[in-house]
Amino acid sequence: MVQLYNTIKMLKTITYFFVIILFLSACGYKAKQLEKWPISSPNGEIQASFWIENGKPYYEVSFNNKPILVKSALGFVLSDNDTLSNNLILVNHSDSAIDETWEQPWGQQKFVRNYCNEATFNLTEASGSKRSFAITFRVFNDGVGFRYSFPNQTNLTTFTIMDELTSFNFHDVAQAWWIPAYKDNRYEYLFKKSPINELDTVHTPLTLELPNGVFASIHEAALVNYASMTLASDKKSGLKCDLTPWSNGTKVNVTSPFNTPWRTIILGHNAGELITSTLMLNLNEPCKLEDLSYIKPHKYLGIWWGMHIGKYSFWEGPIHGATTARSKEYIDYCNKLGIDHLLIEGWNKGWTPQWYENKMHVFSFTESTSDFNFKEVANYAKAKGVSLIGYHETGSNIENYLPQIDAGMKMYQDGGLHAIKIGQVGSRLNMKEWHHGQFGVNYYQYVLEKAAQYKLAVNFHEPIKPTGLCRTYPNLLAGEGGRGMEYDAWSEGNPPEHTVIIPFTRLLAGSMDFTPGIFAIKGTRVHTTLAKQLALYLTIYSPIQMLADLPENYVGNPAFKFLQDVPVNWDTTVVLNAQIGDFLTIVRKDINSNDWYLGSITNQEQREFDLPLTFLSNGKSYSAEIYADGKDACFDSNPESVQISKMEVTNKTILKIKLAKGGGQAIRFIAEN
Ligand code: NOJ
Repeated sequence: MVQLYNTIKMLKTITYFFVIILFLSACGYKAKQLEKWPISSPNGEIQASFWIENGKPYYEVSFNNKPILVKSALGFVLSDNDTLSNNLILVNHSDSAIDETWEQPWGQQKFVRNYCNEATFNLTEASGSKRSFAITFRVFNDGVGFRYSFPNQTNLTTFTIMDELTSFNFHDVAQAWWIPAYKDNRYEYLFKKSPINELDTVHTPLTLELPNGVFASIHEAALVNYASMTLASDKKSGLKCDLTPWSNGTKVNVTSPFNTPWRTIILGHNAGELITSTLMLNLNEPCKLEDLSYIKPHKYLGIWWGMHIGKYSFWEGPIHGATTARSKEYIDYCNKLGIDHLLIEGWNKGWTPQWYENKMHVFSFTESTSDFNFKEVANYAKAKGVSLIGYHETGSNIENYLPQIDAGMKMYQDGGLHAIKIGQVGSRLNMKEWHHGQFGVNYYQYVLEKAAQYKLAVNFHEPIKPTGLCRTYPNLLAGEGGRGMEYDAWSEGNPPEHTVIIPFTRLLAGSMDFTPGIFAIKGTRVHTTLAKQLALYLTIYSPIQMLADLPENYVGNPAFKFLQDVPVNWDTTVVLNAQIGDFLTIVRKDINSNDWYLGSITNQEQREFDLPLTFLSNGKSYSAEIYADGKDACFDSNPESVQISKMEVTNKTILKIKLAKGGGQAIRFIAEN
């Protein structure tokens, strides 16, 4: 009896002891909610911290102990002004680390290391319907990504997001390179540089130079079934997420469980490090496609520039570009010039001289114009070993396109095609929805997956901005999504600094079909030298590159050899020097050989660089084929003057290069031993 009494007493004591421990640790956990939970990058340079203060979640980011983002809000407002951000407690949190290396089917580098520390914070409302969500941070050596996840829950199933409260409050007023959001020409604007307190609402990627010398770029990764993020200035040193609305004013319609896209903050000691960041790709899901055999990086000619300069027309008539005869002639040019892909635009019914106006144009995706025979052209191309690239211009009339998409894509697949360019000219999809709202995001995703079904690799023009989805769907080869070369055909032209800005802005989002390669420059609105046109194949990354000029302008020009040689798929990429808006020099190693290629470009200023060739392999000799601006070259007075020379180099060589005003230089380093 006494023994039983003692045992009960002991059990009671143990229970009290555990209750006290639990109580104390709960108090500790609660107290911790006011404390910051740090997550560091593997090299310790970058630190993000998360905390809850008065029921609201916040984060901050530092780089080498310098504050970059200070107390920045997180959370949502749902419909009926229902805030999901001010009554939260931290239920628990978990930490983990990722270190894996994956291989890209194409890209700026063959292997990518996904190396970061991760922390997930599970939050719930303290009272009321006790809705919950989680915020996951991943901190890499090149920046920070975070996203929200909504688990399956009875109190929050299908709902509408009216606002995402995510903000990016910089410690100081940074300088930003920006293009405006909510404008009719989508992403096709020249970048301007201003302090962030002077911005209105801008697109991402938004690239920033901080007063402490750090470079940053804010963007998003894995944008799926959500609205794209634009950024609104608070007119001080902060920016707030501004989700692109539907035409009815709502932002995102979702059903739990779901994840938002990742909000990304790339950080670099210098501007060049932004270009080689792999953060956005690492935050996307691994490849979901089983068959990659049809996805082929390539260079291509096109029945294209001729229409933009007014030599030919898109529509049927006396100067129609896409006739059977001209298509065969261009296929012969492909053979003659050694380029194995050809794009043909304007072959189908529906083109009129008003094709570019904002209207529900009705294009057919299967019926040819009377002067174009698809089967005949496809057979001719096959016989000559040339791959045709299909073209669907939707004119943003999605209602007209989607019922025809299967037939249009099947026709291409049956004709032996493996690539397609798809255009969305127009200010709104269906004259109603923004290209970059949730409607557009879902539309582009649908088309991409449909193309994979028909084994077609896609080049979207007037696209949604890229967010690294090419990792999951590598058939997404490239997109336009910026002011490309076509503006040099019919506007005032792109100024010389445009191409030394976009590698640090638009191109951080992913590959761009810029369509360089104009050789007949004199008297046009192309504000570069010819050597700079060659260098653009290095400074603008894309696994598909157009050789955009009329093919007759290439015939007999010795500089064309560089365009024949330059690869579109790379083993390694190194930035040798970089100053946004001023100059950029990039070297890349070919994926299929030991050769390296260099592209160096400048704005309207002439420049000289001494470049140590330390990237070349030790102990190897290389024959350098150099395409430099001629002595008297200048983008506005003498753009076509090129000097081609050869020299022997090793990794000990310091190469002196000189760029003319608006000029550039392109070099192939051929490995000799
Ligand atoms: C605009 C595209 O950017 C261009 O490449 C295309 O030729 C025209 N639209 C016609 O669709």
